[in-house]
Amino acid sequence: MLNCRKLYGLMIFLLFAGGSSLEGLAGVHDGGVGACNHCHVMHADESGLIGDNPLLKGNNPSDLCLGCHATAYGAVLGMDPLAPPPEMGAGNFVFLLEENLNDGPDGLINPITGDAAGHNLNAPGYGLSSDPTYVTSPGGSYSAALMACTSCHDPHGNGNYRFLRGPANQEGSGGTFSYPAPNAQGLDVVAGAPETNANHVAYRSGMSMWCANCHQDYLTSRHGMVSGFRHSTDTALRRGHINTYNAYNGILDPTGGNQATAYLAAVPFEDLSNTTDSTAGPAGSSRIFCLSCHRAHASSGPSSGRWDFNVETLGEDGLMSGSYPIPNPYTHPSQPSLCFKCHKKIPGPAIDPVEIQN
Ligand code: HEC
Ligand code: HEC
Ligand code: HEC
Ligand code: HEC
Ligand code: HEC
Ligand code: HEC
Repeated sequence: MLNCRKLYGLMIFLLFAGGSSLEGLAGVHDGGVGACNHCHVMHADESGLIGDNPLLKGNNPSDLCLGCHATAYGAVLGMDPLAPPPEMGAGNFVFLLEENLNDGPDGLINPITGDAAGHNLNAPGYGLSSDPTYVTSPGGSYSAALMACTSCHDPHGNGNYRFLRGPANQEGSGGTFSYPAPNAQGLDVVAGAPETNANHVAYRSGMSMWCANCHQDYLTSRHGMVSGFRHSTDTALRRGHINTYNAYNGILDPTGGNQATAYLAAVPFEDLSNTTDSTAGPAGSSRIFCLSCHRAHASSGPSSGRWDFNVETLGEDGLMSGSYPIPNPYTHPSQPSLCFKCHKKIPGPAIDPVEIQN
């Protein structure tokens, strides 16, 4: 929160920075000419000084961010859950507005509401509100009521991937960041083309630990905190997983793939050699991480899944619930869960494996 000394510093800075050109948005986050004026107002009245959001343009930080980012510069919200903006990696918050995400057999009698699509934010200007279910982050202690764009991103920019917060940039986040921001390279949010298997975020290292800033137990206790789904979340792929990933090319071609072209943007892995246009599948240095299975913002499946964890085949996604079907990377409607990209055999329901090979 703002203290008075900082506020006076900001006001004085703004008085001198004021009047500069507002044209263009170059450098908006890293203090370019006129940058402050895009987000802060020049003057505050008495209530502005003591309110929750002094000197900000916009109701609150998340509304402010969405003013530019809802449908442009990465388009992280969109307007219609059934017609989301192009995928740039993190997923879109518009899915939080869906009525039902449950495409499992019990989909109609047991609806899963949109707030389970991912991270809920208080952004009243865009119809978003804090999570109605969780009080804190599962496996951690971050307050769900505090969640905002600025919980995870530093509004003033920093040298980190996507301005993500870390121990040196946590002031104002409302939490404690013990682990640094991840090593990754993203698609260009101004001019870049959307995600494909040959144009994707290059995840390199550290994302699971970064998520663990708020979800510590998912790292240390192998997931399983809430639903009991047990899985390693930050470990090297074993030889069997590597071979399976590289050979697997979908239900119609389960062993025809090869290492040079095996990369699947829907099921990424971390590797220091990944680039935004690499198509290579994993090697001995590659690791599973939170975003092998989840999107960081939200998705059109429960628990921000990269694919719907509740369906037997991807062709069922969206049928029962009427929610947006997450694009099926292999297109065939009988394509089973993408757990099969790494595992040869997963008996039983997709998320309740009894035994498993590899
Ligand atoms: C992209 C939007 C954005 C831009 C550009 C921006 N700010 Fe901020 N600023 C914020 C937000 C959001 C907060 C947090 C306010 C809150 O939590 O209520 C903030 C807070 C602050 C604070 C309070 C202390 C802190 O860091 O939390 C100061 C001081 C400040 N800004 C100065 C500046 C100055 C000086 C510039 C220009 C160099 C600038 N800001 C540009 C969005 C921005
Ligand atoms: C005035 C419009 C504007 C506002 C308000 C704004 N942004 Fe941005 N943002 C941009 C533009 C333009 C870019 C691309 C150029 C750049 O990186 O500065 C960008 C880039 C980004 C990026 C991607 C950086 C990268 O890796 O390329 C993130 C993350 C981001 N903004 C988050 C935020 C957050 C969080 C807020 C609210 C605190 C916010 N933005 C508010 C205009 C804005
Ligand atoms: C700043 C703290 C913070 C960080 C960092 C964070 N989360 Fe969360 N997360 C929360 C909170 C709080 C909730 C519960 C409220 C909600 O769902 O909006 C949550 C909920 C979730 C959920 C459950 C969504 C649902 O409703 O079922 C998933 C999945 C999740 N986070 C994954 C991740 C992943 C993956 C990362 C790293 C990319 C991450 N989180 C980073 C705070 C955080
Ligand atoms: C729980 C933490 C968290 C919250 C909350 C969050 N972000 Fe992000 N955001 C991330 C992470 C992590 C990435 C990188 C994801 C990746 O590359 O897979 C990201 C990526 C982005 C990007 C790059 C484009 C893209 O889609 O990948 C933009 C722009 C952005 N966020 C803006 C925002 C805005 C605006 C908000 C609030 C409406 C917001 N973020 C809320 C964690 C968060
Ligand atoms: C192998 C895939 C996979 C990986 C890796 C993974 N998750 Fe999950 N996650 C799932 C599945 C599947 C569910 C849904 C479980 C269910 O509903 O029974 C889930 C659910 C969640 C939930 C919702 C509450 C719950 O436990 O059901 C949170 C929070 C979460 N994951 C966080 C994380 C974080 C943080 C990481 C990394 C530290 C991570 N996950 C890594 C597959 C994964
Ligand atoms: C990116 C590759 C990858 C994906 C995708 C993946 N797994 Fe795994 N899985 C692994 C790795 C690596 C291990 C071994 C972890 C270890 O050795 O500690 C593993 C182990 C397991 C185990 C044994 C328990 C354990 O953690 O040792 C089960 C059960 C399992 N996976 C189920 C699933 C299910 C269900 C999904 C889909 C929701 C899934 N996996 C998706 C890589 C993956």
